[in-house]
Amino acid sequence: TGKELKESYRNYFPIGVAVSARTLKDPAQSELILRQFNSITPENAMKMGPIHPEENRYFWRDADSIVAFAQKHNLRVRGHNLCWHEQTPKWLFYDKNGKLVTKEVLLRRLRDHIYNVVGRYKGKIYAWDVVNEAVSDDSTRLLRNSLWYQICGEDFILKAFQYAHEVDPQAILFYNDYNTERPEKRERVYRLLKKLVDAKVPVNAVGLQAHWSFDEPTSNELIATVKKFASLGLKVQITELDISVYPWEKNHRTLRPGEDTSYSPEREQKQADQYDMVFKVFRKYKKYITGVTFWNVSDRYTWLDTYPVEGRKNYPLLFDQNLQPKKAYWRVVNF
Ligand code: XIL
Repeated sequence: TGKELKESYRNYFPIGVAVSARTLKDPAQSELILRQFNSITPENAMKMGPIHPEENRYFWRDADSIVAFAQKHNLRVRGHNLCWHEQTPKWLFYDKNGKLVTKEVLLRRLRDHIYNVVGRYKGKIYAWDVVNEAVSDDSTRLLRNSLWYQICGEDFILKAFQYAHEVDPQAILFYNDYNTERPEKRERVYRLLKKLVDAKVPVNAVGLQAHWSFDEPTSNELIATVKKFASLGLKVQITELDISVYPWEKNHRTLRPGEDTSYSPEREQKQADQYDMVFKVFRKYKKYITGVTFWNVSDRYTWLDTYPVEGRKNYPLLFDQNLQPKKAYWRVVNF
């Protein structure tokens, strides 16, 4: 006891947390962050929509303030993310007449974006999620049928890695995705990564988002995933960890009348057991795992409060709404 997360894991990997510029200005939360964590990820501030709202205009303020906080307090920063099908700016895929741009134009825009964003924080951001969620959830295809894909085919993926590597050759470059523990999706992610590795694309690591639930993944699924990606010579990080107290659901929906949304002792217990299990695996495979980042600080705010079920509070983190450590916290720090 008395040991904080980052201390407990000193000999394993950095422990990170997703933040906004606002979170860092709140004294109680920033104090907790500095006590427990040694790495941060901007939750939204570096995504293309927020940071590059118009073709010739960047909005640096929030990203800059997060990076300045990290520099001041000696925290690592993971950059998130450079190429994604969500939170993209309106202008990106269209020309002035509202028509979809050509592959050439889109790749030039991607290059300019990556050069500017990665270049600005060169030496201050040690790892980048270069491509996020490009693999399909649907077993009939390898890649998601996004506008990136419709316009560029699969080339946007290797180009994104190339551009990022050109501008910051020291940065560790990630492919990042969710549900990578599920055998079918894991297989597709593996196929994509294998192609990239075989083609000598500068991809160094894979991010398991780890938006998990108390009953998913199983330890075998998790271990199989870590080993499978490691077999390609890639490092693995857990990039967006949270463990929902509800079963996983695919579709966005509203709350059903009478739905049980209580955070019961049973739910808290199952969650603690799941946290315990996954951290045992992380420690055992520390040779491959180079970082673990939580997606938000405490149950006071989590993106799962509105996703996938609108109006259902969730409690997926190690600290409660009063920023106090939960059962799961003690299982994670004491081993
Ligand atoms: C989420 C943020 O937490 C929310 O604030 C935002 O409204 C939507 O995006 N996968 C990712 C993250 O890679 O960027 C997402 O973050 C969660 C799912």
